[in-house]
Amino acid sequence: MSDIETLENSIMVEIDGAEDENALEAVRVAALGKKGSISAQMKTLGKMSPEERHTMGPLLNGLKARATEAINTRKDVLKRAGIEMRLASERVDVTLPVRPNPLEVGRIHPISQVMDEITAIFSDMGFSVAEGPDIETDYYNFTALNFPEGHPAREMHDTFFFNSDKNGERRVLRTHTSPVQIRTMEVQKPPIRIVIPGKTYRQDSDATHSAMFHQLEGLVIDEKTNIANLKWTLLEFCKAFFEVDNIDLRFRPSFFPFTEPSLEVDIKCDRSGAEVKFGQGEDWMEILGSGMVHPNVLRGAGLDPDVYQGFAWGIGIDRIAMLKYGMPDLRPFFEADQRWINHYGFRPLDMPTLFGGLSG
Ligand code: DAH
Repeated sequence: MSDIETLENSIMVEIDGAEDENALEAVRVAALGKKGSISAQMKTLGKMSPEERHTMGPLLNGLKARATEAINTRKDVLKRAGIEMRLASERVDVTLPVRPNPLEVGRIHPISQVMDEITAIFSDMGFSVAEGPDIETDYYNFTALNFPEGHPAREMHDTFFFNSDKNGERRVLRTHTSPVQIRTMEVQKPPIRIVIPGKTYRQDSDATHSAMFHQLEGLVIDEKTNIANLKWTLLEFCKAFFEVDNIDLRFRPSFFPFTEPSLEVDIKCDRSGAEVKFGQGEDWMEILGSGMVHPNVLRGAGLDPDVYQGFAWGIGIDRIAMLKYGMPDLRPFFEADQRWINHYGFRPLDMPTLFGGLSG
């Protein structure tokens, strides 16, 4: 076998063995590039005798042409194989079922939804949100709120007490969100306009009570606020929250140690069917407690009751959630049952706003 045939064979083997386009390009450069093996042979033509050149010229040109063609053919094959591989790996099976968007799967718990709705309403009225600890001292939960030592009102709340500490003091699981009124007044100068959503605890449990439940406290303190402002605020809130325009409220005298006068608020409704309906009917249902902040409470929190006054209220969030969304039983709220949350939960990203609609 001549040298040229040997060279051709080895180049052809390399071309066939090139696994991808990069490898093939390397083979091409090694054969036909400036310093390639075929190019080296071509350079020898110049030094040959005319006879030699006459036979070698066509041989070398033939070799060059066949190598070039073999490379081009192999290139096409590799290119097509590449496309086939991509098509296979990126194939979409249009017969597969549509996978649900993760955003569509999760649900917002009705309590979170209602808290968002309430804070949307009150932020629109210029309130901000405040929070406090679930574990409270006796001072913030009772004493600062004008519950005298040993007063029976302390028993009213069926309190969960912790064991006494070294100093004989017993912490409590807060029985209401009212302690955050004090905590706020201690650190913030009036005017104060806050709502306080949060968890509260009492030893009580049946279809409409659970040992842990949720309240929303409201507090307004400035130099002029009066009971008419209290009534307007609560009326506007009820209209916006229950999404009914003709809400009727009734204010009854009541007693809370931290307010004077104290008022309980009933909402007019129709209780004849399975669901309670607002804006119609002749029944009344109690929905919240409220009043003008007691001078002792202001004084205890470092505010002069001759300068400052204000109002406060406390409302059960679980209860108004049940009323608004027609849930008969409170217990499933806290059972983490997926079927219940799928039924009563809210779609994520449907944030309640006054302009976009509260409940979607
Ligand atoms: N803290 C009271 C309770 O849990 C509710 C309440 C009543 C809060 C009147 C207030 C208020 O701020 O003014 O029963």
